[in-house]
Amino acid sequence: MRLLTGHARLAGVLGWPVSHSRSPRLHGYWLETLGIDGAYLPLPVAPDRFAAAVRALADLGFRGANVTIPHKQAAFEVCDTVDASARRAGAVNTLVFRDGRIEGSNTDGFGFLESVRDQAPGWAATDGPAVLLGAGGAARAIAAALLDAGCPKVTLVNRTAARAEELARDLGGPVGVATEAPLATAALLVNTTSLGMQGQPRLEIDLAPLPGTAVVADIVYVPLETPLLAAARARGLQAVDGLGMLLHQARPGFEAWFGTAPRVDAALRAVVAADIPKAAG
Ligand code: ATR
Repeated sequence: MRLLTGHARLAGVLGWPVSHSRSPRLHGYWLETLGIDGAYLPLPVAPDRFAAAVRALADLGFRGANVTIPHKQAAFEVCDTVDASARRAGAVNTLVFRDGRIEGSNTDGFGFLESVRDQAPGWAATDGPAVLLGAGGAARAIAAALLDAGCPKVTLVNRTAARAEELARDLGGPVGVATEAPLATAALLVNTTSLGMQGQPRLEIDLAPLPGTAVVADIVYVPLETPLLAAARARGLQAVDGLGMLLHQARPGFEAWFGTAPRVDAALRAVVAADIPKAAG
């Protein structure tokens, strides 16, 4: 067991509830394998205590924290400064306490792009149009990251069309809204909805029109191999699972708090995937 000293660096994840979060396991693995004098804790905080809790963490000398459901918008408000990724997403998932200031960023889009680059080698955002299913917070961060990386067109397909139209207006640039996913011209298809998650309805979509070079990504990671990803692989397409995004979005925070750039590798994946069902039951 690794023992902490009086110099230990501290961080954690704020959520309500937070018991489902895989972040303590993930950061704990990096701390352990890198031999860092530090700890990363689950921090259950109710919404009405959120802002006070963040300021208290800063006062306690924490280096920062991750923020998960339902606090990502509140985190944006509590920050003294936010970077472009947070402004684009309208939400913060990573807090860094530095020089008496609370700095916010959103690493979800970064994590998504890095995960696709990792699991679909050869893919680039500039390859062609992307189709996003959904128009919630995850879609916002992913669409912004794709556009910023040079994706020539992003089409949003959502159950509630008005929400997709609002998101398209907010994002600006080459963003469209459609009722039918324009798969025939897509280089990338991303499910950003909760469909296909354990306990949720299946995502019904026929992948047949996708070009043979298309990449299919899912942000759902319970199960690891969603029916969407299984269908993509059955068609011979490159498939990118949601676990990769979870692992990669954690990198910038870890580096800021603990001073070392961590790596996403097979051993980390195995540790975090250990208690996640592999396929739809
Ligand atoms: P997140 O922040 O994780 O993206 P969210 O903001 O609640 O979560 O967004 C969830 C997305 O999944 C939305 O696009 C939602 O569609 P609506 O905007 O129409 O609500 C989509 N979604 C959730 N359940 C769905 C279902 N049963 N059928 C179709 N879309 C669904």
